[in-house]
Amino acid sequence: MLSVKNLKTEFKVGQKTVRAVDGVSFEVPSNSIVGIVGESGSGKSVTALSIMGLLASNARVTSGEVLWNGADVLTMPENQRRQIRGKEIGLIFQNPLAALNPVFSIGNQFIETICLHHNVDKKIARERAVALLKQVNIPDPETRLDDYPHQFSLGMCQRIMIALTLAMDPKLLIADEPTASLDVTIQAQILALLKEIQREREMSVLLISHDLGIVAQYCDYIVIMYLGKLVEKGTPEQIFGSPKHPYTQALISAIPSTDPHKKHSPILLTGDIPSPMNVPTGCRFHTRCPYVMPKCSGVEPVLQSLELNREVACYLYSESKE
Ligand SMILES: Nc1ncnc2c1ncn2[C@@H]1O[C@H](COP(=O)(O)OP(=O)(O)OP(=O)(O)O)[C@@H](O)[C@H]1O
Ligand code: SF4
Ligand SMILES: [Mg+2]
Repeated sequence: MLSVKNLKTEFKVGQKTVRAVDGVSFEVPSNSIVGIVGESGSGKSVTALSIMGLLASNARVTSGEVLWNGADVLTMPENQRRQIRGKEIGLIFQNPLAALNPVFSIGNQFIETICLHHNVDKKIARERAVALLKQVNIPDPETRLDDYPHQFSLGMCQRIMIALTLAMDPKLLIADEPTASLDVTIQAQILALLKEIQREREMSVLLISHDLGIVAQYCDYIVIMYLGKLVEKGTPEQIFGSPKHPYTQALISAIPSTDPHKKHSPILLTGDIPSPMNVPTGCRFHTRCPYVMPKCSGVEPVLQSLELNREVACYLYSESKE
């Protein structure tokens, strides 16, 4: 349904170029949840913004395709792209308060969105808004519709944001760290809610997070990014059952174990994430990799298929390791 092929996005910062996304390919099949995981600065948000055509003015997609049901959204006319953005692909950000308008009641914002997208009168729009708020478990929705964003908790605002996005009936929801500003129990509730809605509506979700442990519980497929590159992808069972890329192994080892009898020894990565203005040669993980080999700093390893749904970019899994 959504197919991203060899996407490259760069920023101009003064005289320098930042390759924020450097040849990323993945798919979001219909009726599934795909998680993108990676440390801060790995290019997750820029990938989402490139798909939506919402990049900052100093950014440019330099190559690749973003196919939505076969049509490339990168090259289609802006009005057609706006249609897809509004009706078919919805976006949820980290901070719901930034997306909700503080000077209008929640009801006002719902009614405006629903009337705009579905050509119905205000009475019907209000009924739909109540049903949507019920779906995301806002208690007493009939009266709460008249409240303003600041009268809700942050967790409730995120539920409201999800409901408001669902009002457009999207086929794909891109959720960029939707729970990062919330505490752990609320995070779990919101993600469980997203999954429930996804199943009910048979829609797709692209869930972006820096937390592999969280994503794994809710996703059908996981994509791991490092410094603008995709380094591994697979199902949660594949990724957790046998993580291949040393970076994935380090991410998994950093997830605290809930079993007190299980020995837990995190793989400690040396060094900080390199600057995206100065990406290491060859495998860009080589400056931190515990298994680095001489060839790793030469030519960049390509993503190769290991089994169905499973790909990794690392010389440990290529034919000749030299
Ligand atoms: N407006 C911008 N101008 C210049 N560089 C940018 C801009 N936005 C993002 N970048 C750079 O692009 C790279 C990828 O950023 P991105 O926001 O996609 O990271 P991320 O994976 O979403 O990180 P986080 O987990 O912190 O949200 C970073 O190196 C960042 O500095
Ligand atoms: S290619 Fe080399 S440096 Fe990169 S992850 Fe594999 S072993 Fe490590
Ligand atoms: Mg981000």
